[in-house]
Amino acid sequence: MTAALCPGSFDPPTNGHVDVIERTSRHFESVVVAVIANPSKEPLFSLAERKDMLEAALAHVDNVEIDSFDGLLVEYARHRGVNVVVKGLRAVSDFEYELQMAEMNAALAPGLDTMFVTAKPAWAFLSSSLVKEVARFGGPVEGLVPEAVAEALVGRYPPAG
Ligand code: PNS
Repeated sequence: MTAALCPGSFDPPTNGHVDVIERTSRHFESVVVAVIANPSKEPLFSLAERKDMLEAALAHVDNVEIDSFDGLLVEYARHRGVNVVVKGLRAVSDFEYELQMAEMNAALAPGLDTMFVTAKPAWAFLSSSLVKEVARFGGPVEGLVPEAVAEALVGRYPPAG
């Protein structure tokens, strides 16, 4: 096994993302974390911010590189010479969409395999969207996201008053 690709929007990265990437890094020589530059939904954080947050959260993992891509994931995987995509699965509800993406990617690029890492139960309820919603209404997000992300969310949604 050589390199794995962990793609995502990471808007923002959560502790669930960090856990999946850390665990993937133990099974592959290297991991390329690929942040999509222009996700389908307008992101809260810029590409540079999302990359910086991941750099800070994963600074302790030697074999992880943070990069970005635009366009088709299969093209980026080909460009990087990576044949394995690793994604996290939280619940059955993730499965259908993830399966569709995995099958489409395999159809577009035969030889590109997708593997799934099951989320730790502690993070099974966690998503970037929910974290943003909690932060938007002034709720606490500490313990759900890396420290730098919690600070950035407070900056983006300053406490009222
Ligand atoms: O964090 P997300 O939103 O689950 O990440 C989804 C992502 C970025 C992995 C996915 O949308 C993607 O690969 N987009 C690139 C465009 C593409 O290749 N689309 C066809 C895949 S079926």
